[in-house]
Amino acid sequence: MDSVSHPRGVERLVSGQATSDGAGVQLTRLLTQDLQRRLDPFLMLDNFASDDPDDYGAGFPDHPHRGFETVTYMISGRMRHRDSHGHEGLLQNGGVQWMTAGRGLVHSEMPEQEHGVMEGFQLWLNLPARDKLREPWYRDIQSAEIPELRTPTGVTVRVIAGTCQGVAGSVQREGTEPLYLDLHFDAASGAAFSQPLPPAHNAFICVYRGALEVVDAAGRATPVPRGRMAVLANAGDGVLLRPAAGSPEPVRALLIAGKPLREPIAQYGPFVMNTRDQLLEAVEDFRNGRFG
Ligand code: FE2
Repeated sequence: MDSVSHPRGVERLVSGQATSDGAGVQLTRLLTQDLQRRLDPFLMLDNFASDDPDDYGAGFPDHPHRGFETVTYMISGRMRHRDSHGHEGLLQNGGVQWMTAGRGLVHSEMPEQEHGVMEGFQLWLNLPARDKLREPWYRDIQSAEIPELRTPTGVTVRVIAGTCQGVAGSVQREGTEPLYLDLHFDAASGAAFSQPLPPAHNAFICVYRGALEVVDAAGRATPVPRGRMAVLANAGDGVLLRPAAGSPEPVRALLIAGKPLREPIAQYGPFVMNTRDQLLEAVEDFRNGRFG
């Protein structure tokens, strides 16, 4: 059994920035550029959630990426992916798309619904310098394929990446060792969840239903309301989470952690490299149609 004796506290609560991306999709950027160093190897986390087609209908027409991975988790809704390497897939309700942009691709992410709720997250995970120009890779993981476990305390855990209580997730990565868990707490009080985390790994949680508490080594509980991201302090051997007293609904939250690369980060829009020269080369390659 995994045990945690000195759980990490909350270093900072983040409410994110309302923004629009693609052809005008309204979203909240929870992990913004100023947090890239602190949350290395993660570069961005966007949350989209709306039942108004005006907020999402225009989608993300053709655009390039180079140098990192995108992980899209669709809580609700349908989105069609097509890329310049011939991959195509339908991302829907509870499914994940894991895409390694590597040396470069052009893709589109377009809603395949005209009404109803579209809700989900897109995470950008950096690649180590040695892998930035690797061949692109893509995998659609349907909801039913995502490994799940249920704790005795009443928490259902969907293991998207990394390992939880001996259950290996859908994706493993050597360089950044990402952990990506979707936690569904039972409504009953007492449902708690703990997860060991190496102190060097940067970690955060993102609450998307109800209200959660992070309990630190001194027993202090920091509430994290719906829609917020909590950056976890690195001191400690893991994290201890439980629903906040009076949470208005059963809690759902993402727990994301990874091993920092500690390499220079140079970003120009959808290109994330290590140096400015590599960015110029990316723009040049893209303009000359060398993204395949
Ligand atoms: Fe994209």
